[in-house]
Parts: sequence; structure tokens; C-alpha cells
Amino acid sequence: MERITWFFMIVYYYCCMASLTMAAQTNISTDQSALLALKSCITHDPQNKILSNWSTTTQVCNWAGVTCGAGHHRVTDLNISNFGLVGTIAPELGNLSFLVNMDFTNNNFHGSLPQELSRLRQLKFICFRLNRLMGIIPSWLGSLSKLQTINLRGNKFSGSIPTAMCNLSVLQVINLGYNQLSGTLRT
Ligand SMILES: *[C@@H]1O[C@H](CO)[C@@H](O)[C@H](O)[C@H]1NC(C)=O
Ligand SMILES: *[C@@H]1O[C@H](CO)[C@@H](O)[C@H](O)[C@H]1NC(C)=O
Ligand SMILES: *[C@@H]1O[C@H](CO)[C@@H](O)[C@H](O)[C@H]1NC(C)=O
Ligand SMILES: *[C@@H]1O[C@H](CO)[C@@H](O)[C@H](O)[C@H]1NC(C)=O
Repeated sequence: MERITWFFMIVYYYCCMASLTMAAQTNISTDQSALLALKSCITHDPQNKILSNWSTTTQVCNWAGVTCGAGHHRVTDLNISNFGLVGTIAPELGNLSFLVNMDFTNNNFHGSLPQELSRLRQLKFICFRLNRLMGIIPSWLGSLSKLQTINLRGNKFSGSIPTAMCNLSVLQVINLGYNQLSGTLRT
């Protein structure tokens, strides 16, 4: 019995140390690889805003559409609205752990919202208005407790609105219009 307890304590200790080490190791190059992953999902960039601009020869914080925090120099804003991009949403964007504002308005992103975005705990503003995203509106949106604005207007989302959204206590703006939603609203 005692031996088993010790075993679990040791496992627990190593798991804690491993996760601390992982947290400590994320830095601006984590953000850079997340953005480069998005770049590799872009198949068409008519205004050449990303494919030539997002280059490792310049600082990530100077890339078009990218803003970093003044103190910690990590990516806080990703605003690629009206870039006219065609592509999919890279799951690696879930690694942008300091991201506050995510504005992808008026592009041609298709596919679905990757589950990995549920790791963006600091997110206050998420906007994918006017794209071609499909699939369900994910219930993990309801666990991003700082969200103030959710705008998914003008996509191809289907299914019902997840009840988990009711948990968002600081939400001010929600726009899900012009999709293919169904079901009823419950309180
Ligand atoms: C990338 O875009 C930013 C913002 O539009 C601009 O200031 C910068 O000069 C561009 N860099 C390159 C290498 O094109
Ligand atoms: C993104 O940029 C556009 C114009 O380039 C601006 O109108 C919009 O407010 C910005 N979004 C956010 C969240 O700051
Ligand atoms: C970023 O995210 C991807 C997939 O979501 C993951 O496999 C990868 O290990 C992450 N990279 C870093 C540096 O955190
Ligand atoms: C809402 O939050 C409560 C407590 O934080 C949790 O128990 C519940 O499962 C959440 N509801 C949904 C639908 O996610």
C-alpha cells in the first residue's frame, strides 16, 4: 500500500516538473512557429501580406497583422482582417498563449475551428466574420471565460448553439447571423 502511494507521489512530482518546464519553455519562438504554421496553411494571398512578409529575417512582432505586448513581447493581437487570404486555421494557433484579440474578418478561411484554440485562455475578442468556416460552433468557446466578443457571422456553421456559451459572464457582443444554425435557444 505504502509503496503504491510513493509510486504515485513520484509520478505526480515528475508530471509537475515536466509541465512547469514546458510552461517555462514557451517564448516568442513558440509564437513564431504558431504563425509560421498558419502561413503554411495559406494557399492564396492576393495582396502578399503574409507569404512574403512573415519571414524569419524580421522580428515576429513586426509582421503584418501581428502586435506584441509592451511588457512581455509575446503576440497579443492577430489581426489579418481584409487580407483576402484563402486557407485553413492552423491548430498550432492554440499555442499563442498570450493572444487577446483574434480578428480574421473578411477572408476565405475554410474547414472548421480546431479544438486547440480552446487553449487561448486570454482571448477577449474572436472574430471570423465573413469566411467559409463550417462544422459546429464548438462548445469550448464557453470555457474561454474572458471572451467579450464572439463574431462568427457569415460562415457555414451548422448545428445548434452550445449551451456552454451561457457560462460566458463578461460576454457583450455575440453575432452568429448568416450561418446554417438550427435548434432552439434555451435559458
Ligand atoms: C511587413 O509588413 C509590415 C506592416 O505592414 C511592414 O511595416 C513591414 O515593412 C513589412 N516587412 C517586409 C519585410 O515586407
Ligand atoms: C483589425 O483591423 C481593422 C482595420 O485594419 C480594424 O478595423 C479592426 O478594429 C481591428 N480589429 C481589432 C480587434 O482590433
Ligand atoms: C504547438 O502546437 C502543436 C499542435 O497543436 C503541438 O504539436 C506543438 O508541440 C506545439 N509547439 C510548441 C512549441 O508548443
Ligand atoms: C458552466 O460552468 C459551471 C461551473 O463553472 C460548470 O459546472 C458547467 O458544466 C458549465 N456549463 C456548461 C454547459 O459548460
